[in-house]
Amino acid sequence: MPVTIRPARTEDTNAICRVHRASIFGLSGNHYNEEQLEDWVVSLDPDQLHAAIAEADGIAYVAEENGRIVGFSVLCDCVVRAVYVDPSAARRGVGSSLLKAVEAAAADLGIRTLYVYASLNSRCFYENNGYTAIKVADYPLSKSRSMVCIEMKKDLQN
Ligand SMILES: CC(C)(COP(=O)(O)OP(=O)(O)OC[C@H]1O[C@@H](n2cnc3c(N)ncnc32)[C@H](O)[C@@H]1OP(=O)(O)O)[C@@H](O)C(=O)NCCC(=O)NCCS
Repeated sequence: MPVTIRPARTEDTNAICRVHRASIFGLSGNHYNEEQLEDWVVSLDPDQLHAAIAEADGIAYVAEENGRIVGFSVLCDCVVRAVYVDPSAARRGVGSSLLKAVEAAAADLGIRTLYVYASLNSRCFYENNGYTAIKVADYPLSKSRSMVCIEMKKDLQN
């Protein structure tokens, strides 16, 4: 069954949160400890996500396979805020397709350069998709917590 990419809807919120948790614990564990992974999971507030999708405050896409959501991506202005894939769908090009969807949306908005705070585990994924590292950065998860990331960028061909 092919994976399709479509704009996110508010009724996808719970499935998006499920994929967020599963991908963090299933695909990022080699780079962060258990406490950091849990902080990362709770940094996505379901109510805020629901409101953002409803108000189109940011651009979000989901990947669907057999009627089940297996990934999502979010663009906020010139920042790729999220690309997450369920472990069951990893390394099949789903993340790259989700990233291309937000890149196309950014290009349509006239954005010339995209930035991402890449988790340590996702650096190779972004490099493979044409992003270059700028510097190591602390990405804020809450008022008191942050996680080490790599700030990266990509110039879009407008
Ligand atoms: C990063 C992530 C989105 C990649 O999704 P994916 O669907 O598996 O990625 P793709 O299949 O499109 O991978 C494309 C290429 O990126 C690179 N890549 C992807 N995951 C990689 C990994 N874990 N290690 C090394 N290279 C990787 C590979 O070159 C891959 O090509 P290949 O499979 O032919 O070797 C996914 O692993 C994930 O959800 N991780 C946890 C959440 C996260 O950290 N998201 C980023 C937040 S900034």
